[in-house]
Amino acid sequence: MKWTSTSPSDTWKIAAEFFQTLEIPAVIALHGNLGAGKTCLTQGLAQAAGVKEPVCSPTYTLISEYQGEIPFHHIDLYRLSGPQEALDLGLDEYLEPDGITVIEWAERVAELLPPDTIHVRLTRGTDEQTRTIEIVENPL
Ligand SMILES: Nc1ncnc2c1ncn2[C@@H]1O[C@H](COP(=O)(O)OP(=O)(O)O)[C@@H](O)[C@H]1O
Ligand SMILES: [Mg+2]
Repeated sequence: MKWTSTSPSDTWKIAAEFFQTLEIPAVIALHGNLGAGKTCLTQGLAQAAGVKEPVCSPTYTLISEYQGEIPFHHIDLYRLSGPQEALDLGLDEYLEPDGITVIEWAERVAELLPPDTIHVRLTRGTDEQTRTIEIVENPL
């Protein structure tokens, strides 16, 4: 699957479409540079999962848990010091999810990801608002 998004709200729509294809439980790894739209896509997925509270990227919290119609876990490993910290945080528990677990910067825990992880690559396009969102084979 491959989509082209032309705005943040378009990315939310794509997230809703992507959500419909998921078999729950699911672990989703998002790949892409800073500003590629990983958190934006996560917010759209959370909304599709029935999460009512706003999903953001807190500076020092690596794992955020939400309850929608299903449990929704948002993990952002941008500030992770290394795999040991991931284990200390109990990350392995979220990799056997009871709902949806979305991971930004999942390459930092590549060796911990379950084999059925769905990998999504987000790439900036030529203009400011364009993003390519693509389900890819495990790039790690
Ligand atoms: N089509 C788009 N999809 C998602 N975000 C977009 C898009 N166009 C512009 N943006 C902007 O790009 C930024 C993406 O930020 P964010 O989702 O936090 O990225 P990341 O989590 O990958 O670092 C936001 O400022 C958003 O407004
Ligand atoms: Mg982010």
